[in-house]
Parts: sequence; C-alpha cells; structure tokens
Amino acid sequence: MIGNDIVDLKLAAKESNWRRKGYLDKIFSKREQVIILSSENPEVMVWNLWSRKEAAYKIYNRLTGIRKLNPIDFECFEMELLIGKVICVDVIFYTKTKITKQFVSTVSVLNPSDFDKVSKINPKGVYKINGIPFYMDFFKNIKPASISHHGRFTERFSIV
Ligand SMILES: CC(C)(COP(=O)(O)OP(=O)(O)OC[C@H]1O[C@@H](n2cnc3c(N)ncnc32)[C@H](O)[C@@H]1OP(=O)(O)O)[C@@H](O)C(=O)NCCC(=O)NCCS
Repeated sequence: MIGNDIVDLKLAAKESNWRRKGYLDKIFSKREQVIILSSENPEVMVWNLWSRKEAAYKIYNRLTGIRKLNPIDFECFEMELLIGKVICVDVIFYTKTKITKQFVSTVSVLNPSDFDKVSKINPKGVYKINGIPFYMDFFKNIKPASISHHGRFTERFSIV
C-alpha cells in the first residue's frame, strides 16, 4: 500500500493563510501545533505535517473506502525531520518526506521495508478504479499507485 502528497510551497503561501484564527485547531492536534509554532520555519512545518497526513489518508482511504475524513484524526508522531509515523484509529503509517525550497512531498507506506521499493511510475501505466489509482507494469502486474498534484508539481508512485 502506498500514499503520497505534494505541496507546492509557492501556491500554498498564496492560497492558505494558516495563521488565520482557528485554522491550526481544525487540522492539527495541540502537540502538532507546538511542533509547528516552535519550529524554525513554521510555514514549512505546516505543510510538512499536512503532507504526512494526506499521504497517510490516501492509504486509509484505499483500506476502508472512507472518503471524508477529519485531518485531526490523523496524528503525526515519532517525527524526525524527514521520517515519521502517522496514526489513525489503530492503523500506523510510515512516512518519508522530502523538503526543497519549492515543495514538500511525502510518501507513506504500511510496511517500512516497502520504502526501498517505492518508485516513480509512468503515467501511461496508470488507471483508476472508483477514483483510486493502480499501476500496470511492463509484465502486466497490477500494483496500488498514488498520485498527487499541486500547483507546478505532480508525482506518481507505486511499490514495484
Ligand atoms: C485524495 C484527496 C485527499 C485529494 O487530495 P488533494 O490534495 O486535493 O489532491 P491530490 O492531487 O494530492 O490527490 C488527488 C489524486 O489522488 C489520487 N487518489 C485518490 N484517492 C487515492 C488513494 N486512496 N490512494 C492514492 N491516490 C489516490 C487521485 O488519482 C488523484 O489524482 P488524479 O486527479 O490524477 O486522478 C481527496 O480525497 C480529498 O480532497 N478529500 C477531502 C479532504 C480530506 O478528507 N482530507 C483528509 C485529510 S487527512
């Protein structure tokens, strides 16, 4: 299983005023808010945590079929700068995040050994069932895939 999320930092800065009263309370636990507000770059930390939640959400959605979820139900924990875990109900997701000046991108998996098998995929091999993406490889093996678009960026991954 795989999930991913990318945030275009330029677009996020334009679209989302995360400093607005009540915004953080809707999305982040008190513990996550402390991490954000005490970070050297709170803005990037907002999107860092957000992308982890969204990447985990995509796996949770595939597992349960549930589409509408509250971001606050996904809690980031055991966070280091670029790796960590997210929990929702009793499911633990493992995350790896990449941060550049332009974007924040997270991939999540259920089994940490899968990180070694995560690969970018050719859009031509992607098809969707009920809105959820799959990837058919050269040998016609079908694997779960994950896609994210934001602003200038698109990423597509599968576990190959
Ligand atoms: C998937 C969702 C989170 C959209 O995310 P988004 O940040 O607006 O957009 P993204 O580009 O990252 O995701 C859209 C892509 O995800 C893909 N996707 C949808 N469900 C997926 C899943 N379960 N696993 C992997 N990929 C999935 C879609 O194929 C889509 O790409 P496409 O337009 O090329 O088909 C959507 O379900 C949503 O907006 N839900 C409501 C908000 C919510 O509940 N968020 C949870 C917070 S934890």
